Formats: sequence, C-alpha cells, structure tokens
Amino acid sequence: MSKTCIITGASRGIGRAIAIELSKREDISNLILISRTESGLEETSKLMNHGKTIDFYAMDLTNYEEVKRLIHAVGEQYGTIDMLINVAGYANPKSLLETSIEDWEKTYQINVHSLFNITKEAVKFMKKTGGKILNVASTAGSSARPGWLAYASSKAALISISSTLSEELSDYGILVYCISPGRCATELRKILAPDEDPTTIMQPEHVGEVVGHLLSDDGVCLDGQNIVVRKQVKKAAIKQVSKQTT
Ligand SMILES: NC(=O)c1ccc[n+]([C@@H]2O[C@H](COP(=O)([O-])OP(=O)(O)OC[C@H]3O[C@@H](n4cnc5c(N)ncnc54)[C@H](OP(=O)(O)O)[C@@H]3O)[C@@H](O)[C@H]2O)c1
Repeated sequence: MSKTCIITGASRGIGRAIAIELSKREDISNLILISRTESGLEETSKLMNHGKTIDFYAMDLTNYEEVKRLIHAVGEQYGTIDMLINVAGYANPKSLLETSIEDWEKTYQINVHSLFNITKEAVKFMKKTGGKILNVASTAGSSARPGWLAYASSKAALISISSTLSEELSDYGILVYCISPGRCATELRKILAPDEDPTTIMQPEHVGEVVGHLLSDDGVCLDGQNIVVRKQVKKAAIKQVSKQTT
C-alpha cells in the first residue's frame, strides 16, 4: 500500500533522522516534510530513499491558516494522510522569574498549539482510513526540570494530549504514539546543555530507529503510552555534566 506520511521539524536533528528512517519503508510512498528552513529540508530530502515522492514545505507551523491550507492540499492530492509525525519543537530554558510572557507564549505556540492545529487538520483525512500519529514529547515532560519551566510544561501537555487522543481517536482506527527522548545530540540539546559533549549522548538516528519500529506492524501494542527513549550514559560522562539534567 502506498502510504502518505507528514513529518514536522524535518530540517535537522530528530525530525531529519525520522524522515530518513521512514523513507526506507516499502509501504510509505509519499513523504511530506515541514519546517521553516528550506535548505535544511532540501538536505534531508537528499539523504532519503530516492524511490519515494518527497515534498517539502518551508513554513512556520505557528502560521495556523497556512498549515491548514497545506494539510488540506496534501489530503486532496494523496487521497488520505496515513501518518503524522509531530517533531518540531522549541526550547529556551529559563526559570519562572526569567521567563517573559512572550517566550512562554512562543513555547506553547510551537510545541503545543501548532501540534493541535496540524493534528486536527490531518485527522479530518485520516479518520476515513485510519492511521498513525506520533508526538515527540520529552523526559522533561514527566519530571521536574527547574530552569526549564515553559519547555518542560509544554512537553507535559504533549504527553497528556497523546494519551487522550489515543482513546478519542481509536474509533477511527487511529493509533496515537508518544515518545519522550532523553538527551539527544541536536541543536536544541545544545541550547539546553551547552557544555555537554554530544558524542557521549544518544544520537538522532537512535530515535529514528525507535520511531521506525513503533510505526511498523510490530508497534501495535505500544500506542497510548509515554515511551521513554534514552541511552544509558557512562559514569564518566555523568560526572562531566553533573550539573545538567536530561
Ligand atoms: N534533543 C533532545 O535532547 C530532545 C530531547 C527530548 C525531546 N526533544 C524534542 O525533539 C524534537 C526535535 O528536536 P531536536 O532535538 O531534533 O532539535 P532541533 O535539531 O533544534 O530541531 C527542531 C526542529 O523543529 C523545527 N521547528 C522549530 N520551530 C518551528 C516552527 N515554528 N515551524 C516549523 N518548524 C519548526 C526546526 O526547523 P526550522 O528551524 O527549520 O523551522 C527543526 O527542524 C523537539 O520537539 C524537541 O523538544 C529533543
């Protein structure tokens, strides 16, 4: 079957790794990549399996009307949307007193509101045939992260959204997955932990492999749960970053 899959945040990091991994799948023919940076999306598409149709769209996911138009156009073009992978995210780690209302809103706009918007639009098509949604939350969403208030709480919202939608959308044959990666070597991680050696932590490809597995036929009993994806860190590396959290 020729499935259509949308991946947000595909210009780099975890989203790029997931896009590359899913492009190896025989049952997926059409991949739609979204983020703001066209050059990053183009680079990702070059790294993907060339037997696929790859469309990429440079757009800000917080432009809700533009996203609605795009998802409608994709659904009309391919007949349905089989998979939606919500990866795009933003972090500006600050404590309560350092966080401005503008940055609080920006964090929620990107991490929560834009996910709500694109998911709602995709489900309008997906409900006809069933499908799979995967949301990328964070280990920061399920335990205290002093100094990361907006980011951590926005990721907690994704864990909640995922478990609720898993039940709400099951009548349509839609499975909803939620993964919570721990520390992973990307640009976003550099913002959260600037002094960390990226070679000591999980790489985006590791997360891509887990997502590939979850979205395969083997992943049927893993929906509706918050799945932590974390690499055990060697003790020497833990000492080096002892003041940082995952
Ligand atoms: N790295 C970690 O340790 C870690 C751990 C747990 C969870 N996560 C989560 O994993 C996801 C991917 O992050 P990453 O670590 O791979 O970071 P990253 O390399 O910084 O990637 C973030 C992605 O989000 C996209 N994005 C951000 N704002 C956007 C917007 N307004 N509109 C469209 N796209 C937007 C970026 O693309 P453009 O800049 O091109 O728009 C980029 O593709 C995030 O949700 C993050 O919270 C990461």
